[in-house]
Amino acid sequence: MDANHQHHGHAAAHGHADDHRWSDERFVADWIQRQEAHTAERRPLFAKVRALFPKGPTEAFRYADLGAGAGHLDELILDRFAGAQAVLVDGSQPMLEHAQQRLARFDGRAQYVQADLSDPGWVERVQGPFDAVVAARAVHHVGSADRVREFFDETLGILAPGGLFINLDYVQLAGPAFQQLGTWVGGDPDAGFQIASPHMELPSTVEEQLVWLREAGFAAAECVYREFQTVIVAAIRDEIRWPEGAMSS
Ligand SMILES: C[S@@+](CC[C@H](N)C(=O)[O-])C[C@H]1O[C@@H](n2cnc3c(N)ncnc32)[C@H](O)[C@@H]1O
Repeated sequence: MDANHQHHGHAAAHGHADDHRWSDERFVADWIQRQEAHTAERRPLFAKVRALFPKGPTEAFRYADLGAGAGHLDELILDRFAGAQAVLVDGSQPMLEHAQQRLARFDGRAQYVQADLSDPGWVERVQGPFDAVVAARAVHHVGSADRVREFFDETLGILAPGGLFINLDYVQLAGPAFQQLGTWVGGDPDAGFQIASPHMELPSTVEEQLVWLREAGFAAAECVYREFQTVIVAAIRDEIRWPEGAMSS
């Protein structure tokens, strides 16, 4: 597959809150194998998510990864932040088992919670509050646009004061012309665009998400990175609490 035009197999499983394929061990093992073949594209995006954590290298904090999958992002975060405690939330038991194996070396710093993020009941299961919440290519799985709005309300509710929500995901493009343009730029591999499969059904645009995050009560929300359908959005609960001395000149 053209590295500049790959979609990490998401066309096979996206956007349906009732998607049962994630519970299938074989499907999950194949999916993880496909992701690992694309580590070169995935890792820089995960590193961007990690770079947004306003935390010191040994500072104690607790975060949740919603739709954590096999824990690839968490491996990077736990490696960098020695004081981090992770709660990995996913609807798929096979995914959580893969994550548990991957993160075994972080003995005791990761917990695993099976929960369906399309149902507001997930909030009770994760035992917040958290200093940060991350989600990587998971929010588009929680359901319709209305469900995404509710999900943002729920996410705000599990953040501690000073908390940050970081959402790496796929969003709708403004129209078919941009889908075609997305296909077109794949013809220049040197450009290295991170392009999602342009035909994915997705619940919202990034502009809608930014409005919904502010309506949910986040003090501020910004799209801090974008390449066609791939975005990273950061939403601040009230204000960022920087590590001591980090912002002094
Ligand atoms: C595209 S994968 C992303 C996994 C991981 N965050 C990554 O970037 O490698 C989506 C993940 O969301 C999970 N998922 C899908 N629908 C879900 C739901 N309704 N509730 C909880 N998890 C769900 C899947 O099991 C899968 O692990």
